[in-house]
Amino acid sequence: MEISKHIECLSKWPEHYPSGVWSFLRVILSLFVLPGKSLRSFGPPGSWVVVTGASDGLGKEFALQLAKARFNLVLVSRTESKLVALSEEITKKFPNVETKVLAMDFARNADEDYAALNKLVSELDISILINNVGQSHSIPVPFALTPAEEMNNIITINCTGTLRVTQLIVPGMIQRRRGLILTMGSFGGLLPTPLLATYSGSKAFLQQWSTSLGSELAPHGVTVELVQAYLITSAMSKIRRASATIPTPRAFVRSVLSKIGRSGGSSSYAYTSSPYWSHGVMAWFLTSVTGVMGSFVVSQNRSFHESIRKRALRKAEREAQKKST
Ligand SMILES: NC(=O)c1ccc[n+]([C@@H]2O[C@H](COP(=O)([O-])OP(=O)(O)OC[C@H]3O[C@@H](n4cnc5c(N)ncnc54)[C@H](OP(=O)(O)O)[C@@H]3O)[C@@H](O)[C@H]2O)c1
Repeated sequence: MEISKHIECLSKWPEHYPSGVWSFLRVILSLFVLPGKSLRSFGPPGSWVVVTGASDGLGKEFALQLAKARFNLVLVSRTESKLVALSEEITKKFPNVETKVLAMDFARNADEDYAALNKLVSELDISILINNVGQSHSIPVPFALTPAEEMNNIITINCTGTLRVTQLIVPGMIQRRRGLILTMGSFGGLLPTPLLATYSGSKAFLQQWSTSLGSELAPHGVTVELVQAYLITSAMSKIRRASATIPTPRAFVRSVLSKIGRSGGSSSYAYTSSPYWSHGVMAWFLTSVTGVMGSFVVSQNRSFHESIRKRALRKAEREAQKKST
């Protein structure tokens, strides 16, 4: 689309969204004023939380903050030594909190791993499930060049893993008529993201799945929430320095746990939240403008990821040269 068309679209924006001002006020109230549901409403002290991808980044932070809130923890991720170190850290900081660890590689999609997880959780009162495990592309890559293994792993970890873990946990929550199933989504699931096409598709899958599940489980007293996040400092994002738009895992998880049940800046899907303040404002703006400027937003997103790819390839080249000399 030519730039003049975009300007024409933008000039029509208020007509397309006559309730824009009210919707922005609602976002501000949700992000800054209204409280979320109490975590205690999902289970009594001594009940359990399952965190997938618990050994690093956001998963580790979910584990630490939920331990502080006096939930016991089942910590699941790939590297046993990191899980054991986290379990020891939690026991030292919160001596009354119990932990169990399970090292499994979700990319294997192995029945015996899920059987081991089932054995671990079947006797426990699980009040919260944090579906956090996820993999993205190692660097932005055109779909045609995406290595088959990376493509398969993204779908197996992000989609199949989340579905299989949730199926183990949901029946108990329905029986107890309480619980929270929180799944880490991404702006990649909200906006089509060229050069991260498989990751973007996997998060869009989680968005539709989680919203459908939210509707199914609401009559059973179980809360479901998908969290829409932009960037956060972590190994996955490869960003170390926090800023107004890129929070640390600690700040991000604090906002998530304090705003359960509030939509924040998310307006286009039910049972969904974008609770970190700057991400919320961005989510609101993006969903408002993509209605009239869809192709423009996607092409901007493509240029952004093309430039990240160029930089990543140059860095890899420099490192290869250093090694060879
Ligand atoms: N960071 C961001 O900017 C961002 C933005 C939007 C959404 N998200 C989403 O937030 C979630 C967490 O991301 P993060 O940034 O915290 O990631 P991270 O720092 O890379 O941590 C990933 C965690 O998942 C575990 N894991 C990775 N692959 C696994 C596998 N195959 N099997 C078992 N465990 C595995 C890792 O375990 P090991 O340590 O043992 O490898 C680690 O504990 C993901 O779903 C991601 O898509 C992140």
